[in-house]
Amino acid sequence: MPSSSSSSSFPLVPVLTLLLSLPLLFIIAPKFLSPKQIQITLPDELDDLALFRRASAAESQPHRLPGHRNHLGSTNAKPKIAFLFLTNSDLQFAPLWEKFFKNGSKDLYNIYIHADPTVKVSVPGGVFTADRFIPAKRTQRSSPTLISAARRLLANALLDDSANAFFALISQHCIPLHSFKFAYNTLFHRSITDLTQLGKLEYRSFMEIVSKAHFLKDRYNARGRNVMLPEVSFDQFKIGSQFFVITRRHAVTVIRERRLWRKFRLPCLSLDSCYPEEHYFPTLMAMDDPEGCTHYTLTRVNWTNSVDGHPHLYRSSEVSPKLIYKLRESNFTQSHLFARKFSPDCLKPLMNISDSVIFLD
Ligand SMILES: *[C@@H]1O[C@H](CO)[C@@H](O)[C@H](O)[C@H]1NC(C)=O
Ligand SMILES: *[C@@H]1O[C@H](CO)[C@@H](O)[C@H](O)[C@H]1NC(C)=O
Ligand SMILES: *[C@@H]1O[C@H](CO)[C@@H](O)[C@H](O)[C@H]1NC(C)=O
Ligand SMILES: *[C@@H]1O[C@H](CO)[C@@H](O)[C@H](O)[C@H]1NC(C)=O
Repeated sequence: MPSSSSSSSFPLVPVLTLLLSLPLLFIIAPKFLSPKQIQITLPDELDDLALFRRASAAESQPHRLPGHRNHLGSTNAKPKIAFLFLTNSDLQFAPLWEKFFKNGSKDLYNIYIHADPTVKVSVPGGVFTADRFIPAKRTQRSSPTLISAARRLLANALLDDSANAFFALISQHCIPLHSFKFAYNTLFHRSITDLTQLGKLEYRSFMEIVSKAHFLKDRYNARGRNVMLPEVSFDQFKIGSQFFVITRRHAVTVIRERRLWRKFRLPCLSLDSCYPEEHYFPTLMAMDDPEGCTHYTLTRVNWTNSVDGHPHLYRSSEVSPKLIYKLRESNFTQSHLFARKFSPDCLKPLMNISDSVIFLD
């Protein structure tokens, strides 16, 4: 009798189906349990985590190399500046930067390039050799991918050379405003803060940290109302230039950071208010070590008449010695070191005034 034989046998098919669908439950269930806690895990996060863990572990090794923890005095070799080029097109000002780097000796800097792999970026040659390009991932505006790329650059530079003491983020639209020698002296001699109460001298990070902007509330709620809570209250949410120069100690802080990143990596609901790279770093630094930061950036930008979140793009007709002098002016520091945003056609006039103006301090 077919019916009795089937009822006595083990219900293999339903049990197997149930077992096989169990993993699915773990994926679906959290969405019903706590919709605000959903984490969008980008598939490539895992590679980055492994990289950050390696860089973090290397940093924990006791070593007495220059730049380590940025304490002055332990200078058995000269500390270096790591220049982190973040680009999604050709390095249009490579010849100008080449001249800049020729002014500094090879043992005072390192170059690292993160080039969006979905764009064909050519290798400029000179100081920008193919081995300077780090393993990169796609970068997109209005997304946390620009933060990821900066963190990737920091981790690679930390791992590569323990003499890297400052980490300067630069884009393909950035130009130098001074000689290498001037930039080096500014970072290593003018950033020192006298923390006498702590009995030590330390370098500071040139991280812009601003608490007030009329659009700050929209930026804060870009991922949904109060989604940043409890990690980041509105009072703790800061804005600052995407382009910073930070110390080794702070570079380590950034690559070890997980708590804020869990929120900042969430996609925005409103793209108009989505510039996470302008908030993640200043917010983190303001929470972690506000006294260790200058609160201003060394990279000049012109926001006058900005359109669609883009700053003024300088054209070749605007390039002049007067412009360079104007861009150097700062209310906070002796001088800005870098400026943006310049269109590729500026290369010729910039090269023309490089020796007579830009690299003449
Ligand atoms: C670098 O530039 C400065 C300022 O123009 C100059 O005094 C110095 O001699 C230059 N050094 C090298 C190695 O080119
Ligand atoms: C900033 O950009 C505006 C145009 O948007 C221009 O008129 C002004 O001269 C620029 N300022 C500087 C210092 O370059
Ligand atoms: C310096 O501060 C004044 C007054 O707040 C402001 O008008 C000017 O634009 C500032 N200059 C720079 C280079 O930021
Ligand atoms: C080069 O710069 C000088 C000023 O230093 C200027 O007089 C001259 O017109 C410039 N030439 C070109 C081709 O831009």
